[in-house]
Amino acid sequence: MRKIFVKTNNPYEIMVQKGIFKSCSEIIADFFSSRNTVIVTDETVYRIYGKTLKNKLLREGFKLNVFILKDGEQSKNLDNLSLLYEFLSKSQITRNDFIIALGGGVVGDLAGFAAASFLRGISFIQIPTTLVAQVDSSIGGKTAINIKSGKNLVGAFNQPSLVICDPDLLSTLSSKTFCDGMGEVIKYAASFSESLFTKLSKNNIYDILEEVIFDCIIYKKNIVENDERDFGNRMKLNFGHTVGHAIEKYNNYKNITHGQAVSIGMVYIMQQGEKLGITRKNETEKLKKLLKKFNLPTTVDISYEDIFYNSLSDKKRRGNNITIVTVSEIGKSHLLTLNLDEYKNFLSC
Ligand code: NAD
Ligand code: GLY
Repeated sequence: MRKIFVKTNNPYEIMVQKGIFKSCSEIIADFFSSRNTVIVTDETVYRIYGKTLKNKLLREGFKLNVFILKDGEQSKNLDNLSLLYEFLSKSQITRNDFIIALGGGVVGDLAGFAAASFLRGISFIQIPTTLVAQVDSSIGGKTAINIKSGKNLVGAFNQPSLVICDPDLLSTLSSKTFCDGMGEVIKYAASFSESLFTKLSKNNIYDILEEVIFDCIIYKKNIVENDERDFGNRMKLNFGHTVGHAIEKYNNYKNITHGQAVSIGMVYIMQQGEKLGITRKNETEKLKKLLKKFNLPTTVDISYEDIFYNSLSDKKRRGNNITIVTVSEIGKSHLLTLNLDEYKNFLSC
């Protein structure tokens, strides 16, 4: 088993191994002295993995209840958060008990925020079941829900107590959801590692999946350890996201997935970078080729004005300035702070 220790203010371990889900209940029983927990999951994940986990934990002597969300981004909302608080209360969750987030980023973000705020903070474990969650959302402690004004606008930094990552769980993902996750994987490669980019270009992903997940976790761990609260280099993890989030918002979070929007966002930023001479010529073509290998879109019909206006609630905006992530060449990312006029010009040049 590969173990990664994340040295944040509340340090924790990430366990990565194919098949580790089978021993999840024993690992959890060893880790916590409490025997009272709530599993938070969604309908699809409950059907495929939740019942198994529940039965295994019951056999270990746990008293537990399961809170099941409807699938999808729309579930990451205040109403469900409120229902979850009541559910935790009725399940008699006390401060030494814990939550298990079993699912993708939607489940992890909502459960993690509930854990950050219920009783002023209880522990939670992440068992990520999507590629996005395994390489990104289950690590680093960003938890949040969406409000009408935008995505992830209410949340907290709250590191999990443990992450149990089993790449075998990804075998049941639809190819669209898997490719969505590849958008985040390619983001790591384009921003931090030319060698990961080459590995992804030259290999069949299924032959190298566990190794790739491990690589991405290491990139994220290194960034998060040095900037847990997202004031500096951690913003580089958002390459493609400012434009991507604007595209998602413009589309009311429908018809386009997060990974697809990020894919288009990365291409948009690199194309503009090439025009302005801050990105090496032809780098965007390399990126597009890799994104297309995973059926990710590289363009969408949206004006630069719509991207601009839908970027204004971005969390990387500070007053009149916004920080975007540029890439000078594959594997080398930089932060660029622009005032809003400069940002508009950047988008439109
Ligand atoms: P998701 O959680 O909505 O899952 C996508 C779909 O896959 C769902 O329908 C789910 O039921 C299904 N699914 C999950 N695991 C499955 C499995 N093993 N087999 C079959 N189906 C499965 O989407 P996601 O892409 O995992 O997460 C997106 C969310 O993550 C967004 O809300 C985004 O804002 C958030 N996010 C957060 C961070 C962070 O740092 N906290 C980072 C990236 C993304
Ligand atoms: N997903 C971006 C971050 O964790 O900072």
